[in-house]
Amino acid sequence: MAREQAHRIADAYLPAQRFGNRRDYYYSRGKLGSDPLYPGVLAALTPCSQPLLDIGCGLGLLAHVLRQNQRTQAYFGVDIDADKIARAQRAGTRAALANARFACVDASAALPDHHGSVALLDVLQYLPAEAQPVLLREAAARVAPGGRLVIRTTLADNSGRDRTTRITDMLAHLVGWMGTRPRHYPDAASVRAPLDAAGLQVEMTPLYGNTPFNNWLVTAVRGDAV
Ligand SMILES: C[S@@+](CC[C@H](N)C(=O)[O-])C[C@H]1O[C@@H](n2cnc3c(N)ncnc32)[C@H](O)[C@@H]1O
Repeated sequence: MAREQAHRIADAYLPAQRFGNRRDYYYSRGKLGSDPLYPGVLAALTPCSQPLLDIGCGLGLLAHVLRQNQRTQAYFGVDIDADKIARAQRAGTRAALANARFACVDASAALPDHHGSVALLDVLQYLPAEAQPVLLREAAARVAPGGRLVIRTTLADNSGRDRTTRITDMLAHLVGWMGTRPRHYPDAASVRAPLDAAGLQVEMTPLYGNTPFNNWLVTAVRGDAV
């Protein structure tokens, strides 16, 4: 993402006080500037303008990226971390994001009602193995005709990238950025199976960018209603 665009979004995460904590500001600036996630997801979502449910939204960066790119669909971000949701809400208000809301939800317990498109970005590995197909099924069930489920996930394939991803995730947990530790890394077949069963057309492409991580973009589309 262009530097100015990343900075403009990150500004919404500046602390209210001059000497307040700037962690979210620097994190968003760095992430938006270096991670191919957001341009990839934006491109994957672009053919459709259905309301979006962002599961495990974290600080809600995707909402800012959508609005900066003139994507006006309703946005609903949910995350299990109440503190992140409060910070996402603050930044959303500060940037005057229209038609965007956030709520604290444990996606492994129950997802909110939704009919449209769904994003699930860097979340799957934080759920235990048995909860992953359930979440994928529930997310797929919320994809409307013409809508799409866009997932970014690392895939277990025993590669060097796979190992680098696992070590980095563990460090993110140890330094306190991620409140929960990774539970289980899915492989390609276990991600694909519930989506195929839900009648979605699935495409998986690497989303490495310049990173050393084993990140993949999964785009699962439900055909138009006839
Ligand atoms: C690596 S962050 C990704 C944040 C965001 N999707 C992004 O790409 O910037 C993973 C997020 O998943 C959230 N998460 C983990 N388990 C969850 C659950 N059971 N329900 C909802 N959110 C969850 C974490 O709180 C965290 O914000």
